[in-house]
Amino acid sequence: MSKAAHTFLTSAWLDKGATIGRLWSSYSPPARPSSADLKIFRHFLAEGSNCADQSSSPGLLLGCTPELQDLLAGLALQFDCLDASRRNYLLMRRLRATSGQGRLVKCNWTHYRGRPRPWIVGDAALNMLPWHMWPAVLANLRCLLERGGSLIHRFYLWRDEDEQALGLLSPKAVGAASQASHEPHISIYAAIVFELYRGLVDRTSYQVSFLLWRDAVLRLQQAGVLSEEDVSSMRYLFQQAKVDFRLTIPPRARLEALLDRAGLLVEAVEFSDSGLPFEKNCPIYLIRRPV
Ligand SMILES: C[S@@+](CC[C@H](N)C(=O)[O-])C[C@H]1O[C@@H](n2cnc3c(N)ncnc32)[C@H](O)[C@@H]1O
Repeated sequence: MSKAAHTFLTSAWLDKGATIGRLWSSYSPPARPSSADLKIFRHFLAEGSNCADQSSSPGLLLGCTPELQDLLAGLALQFDCLDASRRNYLLMRRLRATSGQGRLVKCNWTHYRGRPRPWIVGDAALNMLPWHMWPAVLANLRCLLERGGSLIHRFYLWRDEDEQALGLLSPKAVGAASQASHEPHISIYAAIVFELYRGLVDRTSYQVSFLLWRDAVLRLQQAGVLSEEDVSSMRYLFQQAKVDFRLTIPPRARLEALLDRAGLLVEAVEFSDSGLPFEKNCPIYLIRRPV
C-alpha cells in the first residue's frame, strides 16, 4: 500500500458533500465514543489540575466530535475546536445536546501552531492519519501542550492477542462475528467491522483501505459468509471506499514506543468494559508532557 496521505483533508471527502458530518449518526460504539468512554474522558480531564483550572487558557479539541463537544461544554471547560471543515462543524452541532463553549478554528490540526494549552482532547483523531505522519504530529502536539499538560485521546489499537491474526482474513471469524451482530445490543459495526479491519490491515503501514474492505465484504457475501442484511447495514461505509479512505490502526506497543520517543509520558490507560466486541481495542490514554 502506498504511503499517500488518505485523510479527510487530502481526499475529495471535504469537497464532495459525502461528509463524515452527515454519516456520524450512522456509526455506533466502538467506532464513536460510548457513554462509558465519555466517563473515562471526564475522569481523565478531572485528573489533571491544569484541566480543572478555569483561569487557564482554552484547551483544544482535535476535530469536532459531537460527544466530546457536549462533554467539554457540560464541564464548562473553554476550548477551541480545530476542524478543517466549517460544514462538518455545523453538521456535528446538529447532533449535539448542548451549545456554546467551543469556538471553531478552521485549520488542519496536524499543522496547527499556537500558544501551549493545558489540555488537548481527541477521539481517534490520529487514527485518521497515515502512520508515517504520527512522529511529527505527536511532536507538534507536545509543543502545543503546557509543561504538565495532558493529551487525552482514544485510540483504535491492536493488542498483543490480535497481532498474529493481522492481515489474515478469516472467513470463519467474520462469520462468527456476523452471528454476534444478531444480538440486539451488538451493532454490526461493533461485531463485524473491526474483525474485517484486522484481516485487511497492512502489517507495515497499519492501514486499512476501505476499497479493499468493500471488495472483501462483497466477496464474503458471494461466498455466503455474510448475509445480504449484514452487507446492507454496512452500506454507508461504502461511501468511504469511493474516496479510498484509509484508517490507521497500529499495535499498542508501537504507539507507546512513539510516545516515549516524542517525550510524552503515558500516565494512565483505560477502556470501557460494557461487553461490546472490540472495546478493549479502543482504550483512552492520559498522556502528559513532563513538567
Ligand atoms: C467527528 S471527527 C470523527 C473522526 C475522528 N475523531 C477525527 O478526528 O477525524 C471528524 C471531524 O474531524 C475533522 N478532521 C479530520 N481530520 C482533520 C485534520 N487533520 N484537521 C482538521 N480537521 C480534521 C473532519 O473535518 C470532521 O469534521
